Amino acid sequence: MAGLYIHIPFCKTACNYCNFHFSTNKKNINQVIDAICKEIEIRSEVSRKELIETVYFGGGTPSLLSCSQLNMIFKTIYENYNVSSCAEVTMELNPDDLGKEKIIQFENSKINRLSIGIQSFFDEDLKWMNRAHNSEQSHGSIEIAKKYFDNISVDLLYGIPQMSDERWLANLQIVFNLGLNHISCYALTVEPKTALNYLIKKKKQLPLCEDQAANHFKILVKEARKNGFEHYEVCSFGKKGYFSKHNCNYWLGTSYLGIGPSAHSYNGNTRSWNISNNKKYIDALNNNILPSESELLTIQNRFNEYVMTSLRTIWGVSLKKIEIEFGKVFQSRLLHNADKYLKTNFLKIENLHLKATSKGKFLVDGIASDLFIF
Ligand SMILES: C[S@@+](CC[C@H](N)C(=O)[O-])C[C@H]1O[C@@H](n2cnc3c(N)ncnc32)[C@H](O)[C@@H]1O
Ligand code: SF4
Repeated sequence: MAGLYIHIPFCKTACNYCNFHFSTNKKNINQVIDAICKEIEIRSEVSRKELIETVYFGGGTPSLLSCSQLNMIFKTIYENYNVSSCAEVTMELNPDDLGKEKIIQFENSKINRLSIGIQSFFDEDLKWMNRAHNSEQSHGSIEIAKKYFDNISVDLLYGIPQMSDERWLANLQIVFNLGLNHISCYALTVEPKTALNYLIKKKKQLPLCEDQAANHFKILVKEARKNGFEHYEVCSFGKKGYFSKHNCNYWLGTSYLGIGPSAHSYNGNTRSWNISNNKKYIDALNNNILPSESELLTIQNRFNEYVMTSLRTIWGVSLKKIEIEFGKVFQSRLLHNADKYLKTNFLKIENLHLKATSKGKFLVDGIASDLFIF
């Protein structure tokens, strides 16, 4: 098993665009942590011997964890799994959580990579998103993180309604001037059950403009290249040696184990997902039951999944791998379906790999779904 993902399902505030699983009511946080540790133990019965190369704390907001809560999870992981001594261990954190005490706590733990959810350096954007932090905290969190960590990534959001091209460019320039080695930039999407979706439906907010997002993406790609970043996945830009190992393994189809409410797992043949409800998650684990459902993947599911994730990366879809793992029929159907995108320069073939061109990258999810086989 390559990766271990731990989902911490709590946040201070609900951002207006987010439908990841989280609760703003932290009263049962200790019970969730106990249940997470129990799940780590139960699941280790089948995966104890496999080498874990990456550990990723995501959320929700894992930086809300206290020192003792974090230590308890680490202790349980390291007692129950064979974690590589050079594993990449990432912690997602929100800028308002990062004071001196917390960063020293992280430095003294196994964490060796930080992913900071900046989203924007401008108060106007942050207020619109209903983020718990302000622009001063965006700057301050990076400043303090840099004193203790070298491997730091920041998340930025673009395509948000009032964000001009100039302001998006200014956000990017701030990150580049700070000398960071990795950024993840996401085009804002309208998700069901979010405040943003509600506001758009009630006509209190204009729908998002796809042209604006496409323009921001163009600016992003150009500026990142100018500043020495490799565009290695649609949303991910890194300098040499700083690509996210955890995410690369995921995109390239390596197995991973997800722990915590709503977390997903994949072992090459089966996909499983935990219940997205903190109370039900706690109750199940108190009764030694894994609160998850699973599905056995068909060959078509595995093919579609591989095309979807690998087409997003700089490495593309390996035609050799398709032939070996799925057979010649799948390979020729893939090439047949890809033909119109090859002719219109949205896709290209390089060294027996099918890849998105610069023109195709922004539309890659739609293109990939057109290549699916059912
Ligand atoms: C779910 S958050 C978890 C990390 C942390 N709580 C944070 O907010 O930074 C991970 C990333 O997902 C992105 N995200 C969440 N909802 C999104 C949406 N509707 N559109 C685009 N990006 C989204 C956020 O920008 C964030 O950086
Ligand atoms: S974007 Fe992050 S902080 Fe905001 S609600 Fe989602 S998980 Fe929580």
